Amino acid sequence: MKTLTLRHPIHTLDRRLLFSKGTLLTKETLDAFVHSRTTYSYRSYPLVSRGSFIKDWVSLLKMEPYVKFFPKREQLDAILNLLERVRVPIPIGLTMDYFKRYDFLTYAHILMVFALSALLARDLLPDFQEYIESSASGFTHDIGKICVPLNILRKTAPLTEMERDFIEHHAVSGYILLCYYYKDPEHPACKVALEHHERSDGSGYPQGIILNDPMVEIIAVSDVYDALIRPRPYRSAAFDNRAALEQIIEMAKNNKLRWDVVKALIARNRKSRPDYRELTIGTEKRGKPLSQNVYGIMVEEGDR
Ligand SMILES: [Fe+2]
Ligand SMILES: [Fe+2]
Repeated sequence: MKTLTLRHPIHTLDRRLLFSKGTLLTKETLDAFVHSRTTYSYRSYPLVSRGSFIKDWVSLLKMEPYVKFFPKREQLDAILNLLERVRVPIPIGLTMDYFKRYDFLTYAHILMVFALSALLARDLLPDFQEYIESSASGFTHDIGKICVPLNILRKTAPLTEMERDFIEHHAVSGYILLCYYYKDPEHPACKVALEHHERSDGSGYPQGIILNDPMVEIIAVSDVYDALIRPRPYRSAAFDNRAALEQIIEMAKNNKLRWDVVKALIARNRKSRPDYRELTIGTEKRGKPLSQNVYGIMVEEGDR
C-alpha cells in the first residue's frame, strides 16, 4: 500500500470513527492501529449460515441476465458448495443488512459479484477454492460504501465532483475497515477492497497501480459487468446484456481489464458454453445504446 491521505472520514457502521479526514496513513500507522489493544476483536462466521443471504442470492440469480450463467439449479448448488467455506467477520453481515434495508442496489450488486467471481475463478484458476475462500469471493469488496452518505449513494441526479470523490473513496474506506475487522492488512479481502477499481494499464483508482492479482482481476471484471447490467440511481435504464459485454470487450482491448477473464465471462454467457481459451469474439456491435444515462456527467457544486 502507498501512503494514503484520507479525503473523507472512516467510520464503522455503528459510527465509531477510525480515522478522520486529512489523516496521512502509512503502512506502519495502519499496522499499529489494527494491532493496538484498544481495537475490538471480531469473530468470523460462515456466510452460508445466514439463510436470508442465500435465499436472496438464489432468487436474484434466477433473473436475467444471471440465469444465463446459472441455467440449472445444479450449477447454483455447485457454486454454493464452493462458497460454503467462506467466513467473514460478524460486522460484514450487519453491513449487508444495512445495504438491504437502505440501498438495495448495492446489496444485490454485492451478492451478484460474489456469485460471478466464484464461477469465473472456478473456470480460470487451478487453486480456485483457496482464492475464493481467502478473498471472500468479492463479498466484502464494496463494504467501504457505508462511509458514503446515503443521500449521495442513492442520488438520482448527476453528481458533483465532491460527491463523486466521496463515492470513489469507498475503495480506501473498505480497505481500512477490513484491515480493522480482519486485524490483518495483508488479508486478501483487504487487497480486493483497495484494488477492485484499479485497471490493468494503471488507469484506475485509488492508487493508479497496475493490477496483477488474478482474483482481484476476476472480481474487477465481475464488478464492471454487474454495474453495467444493473439500473443505478444515476441511470434508471441498465445496459442490455449484449451492450454490457461489448463495453467490457472494449475495456479489455484497451488493456483496462484482463482478456482471459473477459473471455471466461463471455463463454459462460453463451448457450453453447465454449471453452474460453477457444473463444472467438465478433466485432459487430448489436447492444442497444443507453438512454437516461447521466454517468460521468458532473455538475458544479450548488448547481443541483
Ligand atoms: Fe467498488
Ligand atoms: Fe462493486
